[in-house]
This record gives sequence, C-alpha cells and structure tokens, in this order.
Amino acid sequence: MYNTFKNEVHEGLSSNPKSLPSKYFYDKKGDALFVEIMNLPEYYLTRSELNIFQHKTQELIDAIEVEPDSYFELIELGAGDGTKTKELLHELDEQNYNFDYFPIDISSNALELLKQDLSTEIPNLNVQTQQGDYFEVLASLKNSKKPKVVLFLGSNIGNMNDERAAKFIYNLGANLQPGDKVLLGVDLIKARDIVLPAYNDKQGITAKFNLNLLDRMNKELGADFNLNQFEHQPEYDESEGIAKSFIVSTVNQTVEIEATNNSYSFTKGEKIHTEISRKYNDQLIKKIIANTDFSLQTKILDSKAYFADYILKIN
Ligand code: AVI
Repeated sequence: MYNTFKNEVHEGLSSNPKSLPSKYFYDKKGDALFVEIMNLPEYYLTRSELNIFQHKTQELIDAIEVEPDSYFELIELGAGDGTKTKELLHELDEQNYNFDYFPIDISSNALELLKQDLSTEIPNLNVQTQQGDYFEVLASLKNSKKPKVVLFLGSNIGNMNDERAAKFIYNLGANLQPGDKVLLGVDLIKARDIVLPAYNDKQGITAKFNLNLLDRMNKELGADFNLNQFEHQPEYDESEGIAKSFIVSTVNQTVEIEATNNSYSFTKGEKIHTEISRKYNDQLIKKIIANTDFSLQTKILDSKAYFADYILKIN
C-alpha cells in the first residue's frame, strides 16, 4: 500500500497536468468527511437513491425478477452502512423471499457494524460479510453457481473514467452467470446549478475532503504541503456531464516529499486534478455495457429524476 501510494503520488505530481488518484481520499478522516458530505443539503445523490429504495421498493423487486420461493444471493459491492439497502432487505424479508445477503467492503470495521446492526433490525436475515477486493470476493462467490443479484450503488462507478468503468462492468460480468443481474446506481446528467453545489458546499466540507489528500501525504509520505496555500476548485460542464475536482496552488511554491525523495514545483494557479464524478444517461450506460455480456433491462428513477438505478442482466 505504502509503495503504491508513494509511486502513484510521484507519477501524478511529475505529470503535466498534475493529478492524484481519488482512491486516496478514503483514510479514516476522509471516510468521516464523506459521511458528512452525504448529509449535506447540496449533496443530493445519497438522498435521491434513498428515495428510490424507500418509495420504489416493489419496482426494484420486480425489476430484479426474483421469485419468492427460489433462492438467490444478494451481493453488494461497497456496502458501507447499508442505509439504502436496508429498505430493500426489509421488504424482501417481509415478503418471505429466500435469499442471503453478502455485503462486500474493503473496511472490515464497516462490515462488522453492518452485521451487528442487521442482526437486530432483520434477525431472520442471513448476512455473510466478505472483506476484501471486489473481484477477489466475486471470484470466490462464483463457485456457488446460485442466481445472483449484485448491487453497486451510490454512483461509485462515476469515479472511474468511461474506459475503466467499461472494464469494471466487463469483469463483473465475467464473474456472473446468464440470468444474473446487476443493479447499478448512477447520478444522471443535469443542470450545472444542481450538480456543482454538490461538489462545492457552503460549509466547505467537500473542500476539506479534497484537501485532506494533501494532509494525508504530509502524514504518510513526509510531504510539506502548506494547506493554506492550496484551494479546492470543482468544475462541471453540462455538455460533458463530468464533475471534476481540482486542488489549486494559490502561490508559486515548491513542495518536498521525503518518501519520494523529490520536490515538486507549482506555479500560482496550477491545478492538481484529484477526482472525476461522471454523470450518466442511457446512451452512456449503453456504451459502457456495449462489449460485455450485459443487456439493459430497465431503470428506476427517484421522484426528481436526478438519479437512476439501472438493471443490467447477463444474457
Ligand atoms: C463516492 N463518490 C460517488 C462521490 C462522488 O459524488 O463522486 C465522492 C465525492 N467526492 C466529492 N463529493 C463526493
């Protein structure tokens, strides 16, 4: 982990334009800041998908085409605290569906909390937590040959560029059987005055989240970033449909990083690209699944049509 982090930082800061991988946002502080982001008035994504899970639960159940009396595995990639999924789990449980729930997450702590929580909320439910890399876990689950429904929610796919997203969905399909389904939650392309504030909230939590990357490099790689000399700068162009986050240097400066044994110069106004948050429409989803075994079944929208859960099925 340390070596990959160090190498990717060196590569990103030596490039022109500079960039850093967004996966490094999520240390302990970054996780906590992301929880704060999800509760911000401007960050509509989580509430929009929760709206689907709360008010269109039966539509979701119908769309995943499961039968009450035939067993299936409900697998979730990056389950987190399971707030949205619980709505579906409650309904499936009440209607006596025959399934087990397999939440997969990189954080064993998050999985433990979720398991405890579910044992009191839905005591009948069989929860089999799986800690680790999504594809390693999926490869191990593949052996069961039982029908599967995979949840990948929260527009997490949007943090990948389209090429990586297509590869991701292809790999996902390679671990599934004909008839298996994926419920893919994505944020939809919409007006700038709705999207941009979600990445530029008034309280400055998203700014802290973005700048935490510099703090993390200071702590873990012995860097000497002065956080007062960098600013959070988000951009969104509706015709492209991608929100982008940057960290901008407010002065000419040089930063040293002990771990890479290098120094990096920044001119005033120079940007480090830290994240993309892709927004989608049907055309983009079709493009992403074009070279995979998936076909697009249907989509379910929230009441404002901000967010969609797409149902993909393996042919
Ligand atoms: C995790 N991911 C879907 C979030 C997003 O909206 O792209 C991460 C995030 N970055 C800034 N705010 C939220």
